[in-house]
Amino acid sequence: MPVTIIVGAQWGDEGKGRIADWLAEKSDIVARFSGGDNAGHTVRVGDDTYKLHLVPCGVIHPNARCVMGGGMVVNPVKLADELKDLGKRGVDISPGRITLAENAHLITPGHIALDGADEAMRGQTAIGTTKRGIGPAYTDKAARTGIRAGAMRRPDDFVEQVGQRIEQANRLLTDYYHAPAILPETTVDELHAAAEFLIPYLANVPLLLHEALQEGKSVLCEGAQGTLLDLDHGIYPYVTSSSATAGGALTGLGIGPRWVERVVGVMKAFSTRVGAGPFPTELPGADGDRLRGTGANPWDEFGTTTGRPRRCGWLDMVVVRYAARINGLTDLVITKLDILSGFDAPKIANGYVFEGRPMPEVPADYDTWLGCAPVYETLPGWPEDIMGVKSMGDLPGAARGYVSRVEAISGVPVSIVTVGPGREQTIER
Ligand code: IMP
Repeated sequence: MPVTIIVGAQWGDEGKGRIADWLAEKSDIVARFSGGDNAGHTVRVGDDTYKLHLVPCGVIHPNARCVMGGGMVVNPVKLADELKDLGKRGVDISPGRITLAENAHLITPGHIALDGADEAMRGQTAIGTTKRGIGPAYTDKAARTGIRAGAMRRPDDFVEQVGQRIEQANRLLTDYYHAPAILPETTVDELHAAAEFLIPYLANVPLLLHEALQEGKSVLCEGAQGTLLDLDHGIYPYVTSSSATAGGALTGLGIGPRWVERVVGVMKAFSTRVGAGPFPTELPGADGDRLRGTGANPWDEFGTTTGRPRRCGWLDMVVVRYAARINGLTDLVITKLDILSGFDAPKIANGYVFEGRPMPEVPADYDTWLGCAPVYETLPGWPEDIMGVKSMGDLPGAARGYVSRVEAISGVPVSIVTVGPGREQTIER
């Protein structure tokens, strides 16, 4: 049963990209299953940093075949640019190696304009989207009016269809949102060129994966965003518009559950989120600033896609325990343990209090979330720099204790800990 699924156990940005890169070495195929270029995955190899938005992180390993599944929404111009940039950096981007599902949906300029206009109209209650057109593209998919990637096989018709969608978007923009219309002419050439470039990459992904699995090949499913941003299981409405959890890997790629062997939940040693919405363990003061970093390093807590500073706080194990249940996690990966070095007394939330009453698990509705205060346990800190540590056994006792506490609260074993941004700073049990 050779399918491994990687999901985010928090609010995204847990470091899934680097773990996908790490596990890709032993995988025949790496497949993204949801979201679009709202995701930003960073992989550091030696002195090189790769920031990927659509192409799976497995692409950095020359042996892995890379697939973008039908559960994704893809901006064709962005994908063509990302592939060309990778090609310029010496990465093999030949169509035999990289595949885009014919049934993935496409993001048009109209979607992007509508995303921005909708956020502006929401004002104080804005979701804080990445403004990449994700929500409007999934809206069209559900409304059965979207354009699928396969349409790019006929670039002239495809550009005409996009033009029609832009006209529809313009009516909404001007009449409903009272926002300026966008000019389709500015994008026609770009869209046509992107479609022509992407045609050789199009394929029937469920069939490709089925045949690979039948041949005994292994598939690594690379998630984007995180469990608390999942459309169904996140803190609605402060979520993204796709299935970011393990079930989304199956529907997004068209593979059946019987193939799944391992579900890896990636979590940071503390909590972060971008965008608005409840965040019980948020630390607005100096400790939060310290967790965030200054922005001088690519791994500091600033959005890879938007550059926005991320909100930071103590580790919320109520959320991770929930992610363990929703995804059926077989193991956890803790990233950025090194960032907690030097904190005298790191805290972990193991429950909430709502209106004076204990609330041990995540609430079902948004209003209750808003009123939840964390119940903390304080753990011993460790002063040592752990960035050079190579094995679990060599971590300071307090750091090992932190990892053990995560295992005890979640009921899930920790298989990997990272102690710095480099590949070599990955400790596997
Ligand atoms: P959208 O996906 O752009 O519609 O944004 C919806 C919510 O998901 C916002 O709070 C975003 O900040 C958040 N979000 C989307 N993609 C990511 C990601 O890759 N990492 C973290 N947050 C994300």
